[in-house]
Amino acid sequence: MTDSGRVDALLAELTLDETLRLVRGRSDPTGRATGYLPGIERLGVPPLGLVDGPLGVRDREATAFPATLALGASWDPGLARRAGRALAAETRARGHDVVLAPGLNVVRVPTCGRNFEYLSEDPRLTAAVGAGHVEGIERAGVAATAKHFVANNQERRRDKIDAVVGERALREVYLPAFRAAVGGGASAVMTAYNRVNGPYMSEHRDLIEGVLRDEWGFDGVVMSDWWGTHDAVAAAEGGLDLEMPGASPVDRLAPHSRALRAILRVGLSDRLGVDPPLSWRLFDGFVADDGQPDPYPYDFFGDRLRRAVVDGTVAESTLDRKVRHVLGLYERLGMLDGERPAPPAVDWRAHHDLAREVARSGTVLLATGGALPLDGDEALAVVGPNADGAKVGGGGSSEVTPTRTVSPVAGLRERAARATFERGVRPVSSPSMYDLPGSRLRRRLGPKPDFDAAVDAAAAADVAVVVVQDGATEGEDRDSMALPGGQDRLVAAVAAANPRTVVVCRTSGPVEMPWADDVAAIVQTWYPGQADGAALADALYGADPGGRLPVTFGRRFADYPVGGDERRYPGVHEHVHYDEGVFVGYRGFDRDGVDPLFPFGHGRSYAEFAYEELAVERAQESGGTDGDGRGSGFEATVTVENSADRPGREVVQTYVEPPPAPGTVARPERELAGFAAVELDAGERRQVSLTVPRRALERYDERDGWTVDPGEYVVAVGRSSRDLRLRAAVAVD
Ligand code: NOJ
Repeated sequence: MTDSGRVDALLAELTLDETLRLVRGRSDPTGRATGYLPGIERLGVPPLGLVDGPLGVRDREATAFPATLALGASWDPGLARRAGRALAAETRARGHDVVLAPGLNVVRVPTCGRNFEYLSEDPRLTAAVGAGHVEGIERAGVAATAKHFVANNQERRRDKIDAVVGERALREVYLPAFRAAVGGGASAVMTAYNRVNGPYMSEHRDLIEGVLRDEWGFDGVVMSDWWGTHDAVAAAEGGLDLEMPGASPVDRLAPHSRALRAILRVGLSDRLGVDPPLSWRLFDGFVADDGQPDPYPYDFFGDRLRRAVVDGTVAESTLDRKVRHVLGLYERLGMLDGERPAPPAVDWRAHHDLAREVARSGTVLLATGGALPLDGDEALAVVGPNADGAKVGGGGSSEVTPTRTVSPVAGLRERAARATFERGVRPVSSPSMYDLPGSRLRRRLGPKPDFDAAVDAAAAADVAVVVVQDGATEGEDRDSMALPGGQDRLVAAVAAANPRTVVVCRTSGPVEMPWADDVAAIVQTWYPGQADGAALADALYGADPGGRLPVTFGRRFADYPVGGDERRYPGVHEHVHYDEGVFVGYRGFDRDGVDPLFPFGHGRSYAEFAYEELAVERAQESGGTDGDGRGSGFEATVTVENSADRPGREVVQTYVEPPPAPGTVARPERELAGFAAVELDAGERRQVSLTVPRRALERYDERDGWTVDPGEYVVAVGRSSRDLRLRAAVAVD
């Protein structure tokens, strides 16, 4: 990208002012883009629009796709590719060029406020589905932004916290998805707010220049998160190309008011010697929570960088390199030569249907207990504080205004013979980091729903469907894994009144389920997006949803590898210690011998699957789900039979169980190596091939790098990390 003659020619023409215009974002004069570069009109470099975000385009109305975590739960890179194409098409339809997606942080903390924007607790699943999504976006002529690079695994203090994380965990757990995104052609990477082992990510030379550029060959744009830059010289030398947004919130409120800006900056700040100035703190107090970046100071890649270049602190060639990356992105999108194809018209109806398909494919039947599927003749009692609204997403920069919505009540009423609706308890609020103080309180003050009427309706119906939800937002973590409000009490009372109680969980991640043994079925739909109720009806009325858990559902927070020690979460003195190392998610549950409520990879089906004839052979060429293309791994083949009298979707999973590593190095008992989703008709048998890439055998040694210990490895195939049906041992020397 960067050795293009067109880019070179432009570079030779640019004045210093113009180069600086290309490395610092602004407010979009139309107020529509999340971030904006004004371009250089005289040289035919057009403006560039950057827009949020993972769940849909955050500009006017757009399709509200299911949460990224639902995409992770589909275990389907091909579906992620199609969803990426659709997201890109809408990005262009709204007039933008770069989409600030996907979110590739690994789910480390089960209550992290942004888990719904991420894919999984497993690096290989995150990498495979994330790379598919990136490919889809890029092939549709839009730049994908892999974010947030790296170790942004909690919202608490995200703007300041230092993630103290060992190199092995970084390499084995947190970096692979970003490497896969680069392999998938991502044009941009957004640095995280947090620090990693000292430096802020926006100035992390080792990770940006060392790993991302030198090791992985990334030649796209590295941008900061919004107000996530702290020092012009450190960021410039660290490898950051683009400061975002580079302009203050005042720019947003009054884009033309230079005077207001000057008064705030000069009058109330530096002259009073308060840093950060009181004015900004007050402003901050109204709009921001503790995880928010301080919007003052900003503009590091404005005057500050200019001064540093003029006085020689930062070499001109360093600035030129950044501009090359930025112009390279323009060129890749076909924006420099006027040859970019016009965006095709968006088929909004088809995108709604795709949102429905993704929601259904990401729906996990945690327990079915014979209560499902429904056949259409039953009288339903739909119960739940928010069941008459679609759960479109969580709060923060990923919020989307949907083109239309289908609530669970509406979706189920389309299919059910009869369906009543009662809230039972007060509506659960959907918090947002954009909430003004007091607004959450006001929202709770509606009329009190009739708990007994909900229980009576459930008792009178053939089947009770209780729809519960949590509330999560960027900028803060959930307080606990418990469902908010009186929802647990409601589920327990309904279950006592009707033995055919189906619980539908619309949550940002795992929640405690004290009633799990008392209900007939549990259906996990995450944040299902605008087609919520339509997809739910599909799943409850017999379309095999086939989603599998991308995260472990523990019984309680303390059961997780980050639980029970504030060093590990939320951190002490602005440092969060990743002491669990590589034992994140199921790797930690396995090591500690803790029984999860539902294990990683789990999901039931309306069909029944039998596994036979596992064969494992050395592969010619590894390739592999994480696209690392390294030496040879193994090829596993297994025959899967749908022994039921109905079609079903199975996600065949393969795990590697390594031999003991030398010395004191501990390895996870097993790690996901590959997977394949197959749709099988009633009675159909099929041979399924799974690649076990060499990387799945390796561990990262802090001295020797990627290492394969010789010995006997077990390749296990099955339905979840705790339901392995067949095993084969292979010797590696
Ligand atoms: C902050 C978020 O962390 C990031 O994901 C988002 O893209 C930007 N804000 C812009 O809204």
